[in-house]
Amino acid sequence: MRKIFVINGPNLNLLGTREPDVYGSTTLRQIVQMLKAEARKRGVRIGAYQSNHEGSIIDVIQRLPVKGYSGLIINPGAFTHYSYAIRDAIKATGLPTVEVHLSDIEKREEFRKISVIREVCMDQVKGLGPQGYVKALELLAEE
Ligand code: DQA
Repeated sequence: MRKIFVINGPNLNLLGTREPDVYGSTTLRQIVQMLKAEARKRGVRIGAYQSNHEGSIIDVIQRLPVKGYSGLIINPGAFTHYSYAIRDAIKATGLPTVEVHLSDIEKREEFRKISVIREVCMDQVKGLGPQGYVKALELLAEE
């Protein structure tokens, strides 16, 4: 069975109560449960990880190929806008990756319009809320 991994970066553990007007009221646990259910229908298994720490996220990305994962869905949170280290880790693994954002980063503050991750990802999904993770799964499943 194909295995796809989903990583959520800093502050996404607070989903549900964090700025609900921007990020909605669905918790991260609910998002991951929903994504797992959608993946099961498509014969895909999902592994999931959330961390507030850049280095921990990089450690996990580096291990994905040896653990048999063939795709990555990542919402890097604010690391999106400045983590060249996460960008390099994604590039180093060579795994097809889709970047996800719950909000539409194009329509917010200037600093959010820049993603240093985008170039090493096959696609970027933004502004779809929790459904964005399912869209990313579909894009990877087509690969
Ligand atoms: C986010 C957008 C980022 O700018 C922000 O720092 C986040 C969440 C999103 O899902 O919309 O933490 O990645």
